[in-house]
Amino acid sequence: MNEFASALDHVHATLAGLREQGVELRASAASLARLAATPTAAALAPAPLPVASPVVETRPLSDKPAAPTGAKAERLAELRSPVLACTLCPHLVKSRTQVVFGVGNPEAELMFVGEAPGEDEDLQGEPFVGKAGQLLTKIITAMGYARDDIYIANVLKCRPDMPPGESGNRKPKAAEMATCLPYLRQQIDIIQPRALVALGATAMEGLLGAVEPMAKLRGRWHEFNGIPLMATYHPAYLLRNQSLTEKRKVWEDMLLVLERLAKPISDKQRGFFLSKG
Ligand code: URA
Repeated sequence: MNEFASALDHVHATLAGLREQGVELRASAASLARLAATPTAAALAPAPLPVASPVVETRPLSDKPAAPTGAKAERLAELRSPVLACTLCPHLVKSRTQVVFGVGNPEAELMFVGEAPGEDEDLQGEPFVGKAGQLLTKIITAMGYARDDIYIANVLKCRPDMPPGESGNRKPKAAEMATCLPYLRQQIDIIQPRALVALGATAMEGLLGAVEPMAKLRGRWHEFNGIPLMATYHPAYLLRNQSLTEKRKVWEDMLLVLERLAKPISDKQRGFFLSKG
């Protein structure tokens, strides 16, 4: 192993260790400030945001935010260890930096489910922290939540490997998702959110085995283990298709979620992404 690779290994091991100890890994102050911007239609626009490079902040213990407590938090913490050590897909064990368990409020009333970690998530150990994740955070903020209010997880907990010499992402295979689904099922069983949102057709395929285009799946309620499930486009789709019409479709799906959860919706929120003319 060359010096760079071993240094990188060391950084990953340190980050994983810190995370295990509950030390918060934080994005730069500038990127956090951007994410905290008021929820306006403009805030949802997928403006190119720099990918936040993780800054490890080792604050004194006394200053550390309290770790989530309660039965759900404890049960999630118990589930976390075996999932992080999972070796059910040997090819993914070889290629992954780490398992990406899930993040957020164990008491969340709303849970978002994506397909699988990408490169940023594999490196940082947290779902939806890359460009698509930053857009998801804007959607969550526009809905009136903080990212910390929600729980976010993927169907597949390891980054799908790529053939040698190829970069980028590939879609998780049905068999990989089926192998990993019990972990997500347990997360959902513990959290018992009042609603689930599947981000993209692949997440829907992983959850329900529904192999249908998102155009057919979105905008209506499905069910997973007795929990209402809304399907909508993956934020990466919105990054590729930045038309008002596509943004509005996702936003209408989120309005249905807010209505189902009996959340207050302002006129301003109702009007996001409607053409003015
Ligand atoms: N896309 C996903 O589906 N999940 C992630 O965590 C990141 C990107």
